[in-house]
Amino acid sequence: MKRINNIFFALIFAAFMTSGIACAAEGDKGKSADSGIKAEQQAKPAASVKKDVKNSAKDKGNNVKNNAAKEEKGKKILVAYFSRTGEQYGVGVISKGNTEIAAEIIAAKTGGTLFEIKPKDDKYPKAYKDLIKYAKDEMKDNARPELSADVKNFADYDTVFIGYPVWWGDKPMPVYTFIEKHDFKGKTIIPFATHEGSGFCGTQGMSKTGATVREGLGIYGHVAQNDREKAEKQVVGWLTELGIIKK
Ligand SMILES: Cc1cc2nc3c(=O)[nH]c(=O)nc-3n(C[C@H](O)[C@H](O)[C@H](O)COP(=O)(O)O)c2cc1C
Repeated sequence: MKRINNIFFALIFAAFMTSGIACAAEGDKGKSADSGIKAEQQAKPAASVKKDVKNSAKDKGNNVKNNAAKEEKGKKILVAYFSRTGEQYGVGVISKGNTEIAAEIIAAKTGGTLFEIKPKDDKYPKAYKDLIKYAKDEMKDNARPELSADVKNFADYDTVFIGYPVWWGDKPMPVYTFIEKHDFKGKTIIPFATHEGSGFCGTQGMSKTGATVREGLGIYGHVAQNDREKAEKQVVGWLTELGIIKK
């Protein structure tokens, strides 16, 4: 039964990887935690992600500071993330989402405050095949699902990590709700994403917010889920380069 499930997952995954979604846009300034992503970096960006690719290319200029070490020291940090439990590609049924695990590691290593981006009316299916269809429809509608909670004293945070699973080469729609409802001017955004091979797909381009956007981290979902030690190493390496790790 497990084998049949795996084949089924593989078929569905292959469907979105071959439907033009497999990407890792040229403009990506995110860090790929796994060398396996390199192959996809040569793939062409899907039409649906062009907008983000553009933003990302822009981020190569003024908005991305990859080596501005120490800049974040002493600043108040928020780790906002969207993540799902239930049936997920390559990891079976999970009780803690892959991105949530990555977010927890980041919060532990930076002393940041965790905030879950959750829709108020959560209709996301727990079955993988239903979820991918639901997510695709939501994307087509360019939906902005209302969120269940607000960040307390958002203005107090200087640095906001924003994490999400890559969905159809894009950010899940609630993440757009989160970004659009906040004023990021004067703040620093640090994106992170989990995925299963496409990398960021240009989704980390967030310069339109007016924030300084620093180099993000893309991490395999199954690594976060099944090999916490490896995930932690990748996160620590990235945070160390950013100069933002808690001593
Ligand atoms: C609706 C949907 C779309 C997905 N699209 C992609 C994709 O475009 N590229 C990719 O590499 N992985 C894709 N995945 C895999 C997820 O990004 C990956 O499993 C992620 O780690 C899930 O994180 P979570 O447990 O925090 O929700 C998709 C998964 C779902 C459910």
